[in-house]
Amino acid sequence: MKCVPRAFLLTLLTFWHILSLSCHSQTYWSFSPSPGLFVSMFWIAYFLSPRFCHKFVGYLEEEAVKTYTHCIESLDKGELKMWENTKAPQIAVCYWRLPGDAMMRDVLLAIRADEGHHREVNHTLGSMRPSETNPFSWSMTSHHQYT
Ligand SMILES: *[C@@H]1O[C@H](CO)[C@@H](O)[C@H](O)[C@H]1NC(C)=O
Ligand SMILES: [Fe+2]
Repeated sequence: MKCVPRAFLLTLLTFWHILSLSCHSQTYWSFSPSPGLFVSMFWIAYFLSPRFCHKFVGYLEEEAVKTYTHCIESLDKGELKMWENTKAPQIAVCYWRLPGDAMMRDVLLAIRADEGHHREVNHTLGSMRPSETNPFSWSMTSHHQYT
């Protein structure tokens, strides 16, 4: 199977991530009317309190995990007929390195796992004191060096 370059996929997914976050979070809508304004407000908020922002994202991601769980449950209950027999889109197969016969359900599981990881990382960063060492810095460095 031919795969689109990973850098391109990453860019696409980042945009999609921001968009989907704005969709599945009611919190977001009560905060701002447009993604553009949300991003600028978040930027300012991050400048004022990085810890608050990481906690905020942590809770948002927690909601995302719940949303995908509901989604998977609905799929299993037969409430999402259009996805039941749908194969995973090629772009998703490439990005998450899923097996060739992956279905939409596998994509949902992969996204949920990602969001769970985001939740973990952002809550951890949000609970740290400025003097503490970022526990993820080592794994990030080794990731860049060895893969
Ligand atoms: C939360 O943390 C992860 C690191 O795992 C990061 O890539 C992600 O963009 C952060 N924010 C959101 C909204 O997921
Ligand atoms: Fe996320």
